[in-house]
Amino acid sequence: MLTVITLSELHATRRSFQGTVGLVPTMGYLHEGHLSLVRQAKEECDHVVVSIFVNPTQFGPKEDLSRYPRDLDRDLSLLDSLGADLVWVPTEQSMYPQGYQTWVEVERITRPLEGSMRPGHFKGVTTVVAKLFNGVQPHKAYFGQKDAQQAAVIRQMTRDLNFPIEIVICPIAREPDGLAMSSRNVYLDTEQRKAATVLYRSLSAARNAYENGERAAEKLRQIMRDVLATELLAQMQYVSCADYDTLEELETVTGKTLLSMAVFIGKTRLIDNFVLG
Ligand code: PAJ
Repeated sequence: MLTVITLSELHATRRSFQGTVGLVPTMGYLHEGHLSLVRQAKEECDHVVVSIFVNPTQFGPKEDLSRYPRDLDRDLSLLDSLGADLVWVPTEQSMYPQGYQTWVEVERITRPLEGSMRPGHFKGVTTVVAKLFNGVQPHKAYFGQKDAQQAAVIRQMTRDLNFPIEIVICPIAREPDGLAMSSRNVYLDTEQRKAATVLYRSLSAARNAYENGERAAEKLRQIMRDVLATELLAQMQYVSCADYDTLEELETVTGKTLLSMAVFIGKTRLIDNFVLG
């Protein structure tokens, strides 16, 4: 496995690859969720490139950029053991040099949900992902359903900007008790870690109701709120029952639907979702 930092090293190595190339963009501190994307890319592509870059432009001024967990040595040895071919670890200076002034912004689909709570977040995500696409020029790029809106936004951007890249969305990797794996889970103390299962329990309750025939979206949202309210350490930010493609809130569930939520456990903000239909 090769590790490169500069764009010229990246381009030189990229040119030596023959066959299909899969890209897995990450911010590092890898866990089983990231690794499941790398494994799927390995199965489907001749070469797998992983990028590790804690992208400053997608963090709000009050968000956790400075305390975002990092462990590059561990990440590299995990990726090596999975058989990744190339890891690109760009510097902040090379991604956003002085005088940088070009942004990629997707409109409607970035406004609700995460977009409404984290202004500017998706502008940072789409800009960096476009730069990663341009750098690596992969045939396929792998993203997790864990960040459902991010996946939808990237699909939209890829269509709108004619990137000749297939976007592959991989299922959410979960802990045995249902908690979705996340780099932010390390912030949780023992008591909070237990409380964090409330997201999965709340989504499961709504899905059960759906499976028993409930189609009123507000009823499903209320079921999620009610379960979240039973957990004293949990502070709900939003719950949503929205159209899977447009992310617009529904009145009645008919087609493919996204149940999603953002919840604070102490100071740690967790998101999770289920897809219905
Ligand atoms: P990061 O949070 O490091 O996540 C990298 C990828 O791993 C994303 O596509 C995310 O959805 C996926 N992922 C995270 N947890 C997962 C889980 N439990 N199961 C399955 N997939 C999971 O998302 C980002 O970084 C950044 O926004 C990025 C796309 C790299 C742009 O900076």
